[in-house]
Amino acid sequence: MKLLLIGFGTVGQGLAELLIEKRNTLLEQYKLDIQVVGISDMLKGSLYDAKGLDLDKVLEVAKAGKKISDLPGAFEGDALALIAKARADMMVEATYTDIKTGEPATSHIRAALNKKMHVTTTNKGPTALFLSELNELAKKKGVKFLYEGTVMSGSPMLNLARETLAGCNITQVKGILNGTTNYILTRMEEGLAYEDALKKAQELGYAEAVPDADVLGWDALAKVTIIANAMFGVKAKPDDFPCRGITEITAEAIADAKARGKRFKLIGKVWREGDAVKASVAPEEVDMSHPLAGVMGGTNAITFTTDILGDVTIVGPGAGRSETGYSALIDIIHAGGKR
Ligand code: HSE
Repeated sequence: MKLLLIGFGTVGQGLAELLIEKRNTLLEQYKLDIQVVGISDMLKGSLYDAKGLDLDKVLEVAKAGKKISDLPGAFEGDALALIAKARADMMVEATYTDIKTGEPATSHIRAALNKKMHVTTTNKGPTALFLSELNELAKKKGVKFLYEGTVMSGSPMLNLARETLAGCNITQVKGILNGTTNYILTRMEEGLAYEDALKKAQELGYAEAVPDADVLGWDALAKVTIIANAMFGVKAKPDDFPCRGITEITAEAIADAKARGKRFKLIGKVWREGDAVKASVAPEEVDMSHPLAGVMGGTNAITFTTDILGDVTIVGPGAGRSETGYSALIDIIHAGGKR
């Protein structure tokens, strides 16, 4: 399988490391011989070699903060030019998320699907805004559009709902969908100031390029929209749902809630109400005895309410380098692996 990596920041590099680490597993267990033939990154430059790039070397250069385009195989041109030129089976779209426009990622995805490449993305912009269009385009071209990493990074909540809970009617999905804000609330409870906690979340690679998207709730809102569209069969946009972030929660309010046996969590929710599908993002005071109250730091958790099993909860990483890189690996295996 020939891969194209568009975006070579935290997620792209996390995936590249896993492709090296898991090379034997991929070959032996899934009959997948993966070659990365092209990489394009807005800051680090672009590379293309139809015979496959030396990933170890590219990672070394990227981690040293140097331009990958200083290596042999430099490609002159932007991501769209590389997609147009490249012969590849699958594209990994991991550029920065713009929740308002979905660009430039949506254009990358449309271009790759039009060239009959499978696509996996961790990018919440295109998925929250244009899921049904991209699904239809992929179907028309006979390829897959996969996006496991857009919600809960590598913790496979979308696959769990689609494949493993097949046959269950899911009536509500509720949980902690943003690692940055959960990390900030956790550290504020421990006494750290909001600004310092946010800085730490950025250092850990949880936060978006513009962290307003996290703290104002937009990132969780994008995920809620993806869940509504992917699991509840609606064609909703993020603006259709109410959204509040954590910026108004003070250290005093957190301490006060704790004294009353409660803990603030930023809760994303999608549920059926009669024929309607509703969704929201807002901080809630959760009782300490509730399973979501114990989910701390960058960890995410989602509870599916189902007709057959009652509540099923998945707890796991929701952000991070290898965690999100892994979500793309899941999709790559699903698109091209043989079992
Ligand atoms: N900024 C996001 C978060 C990254 O903190 O959860 C994962 O989508």
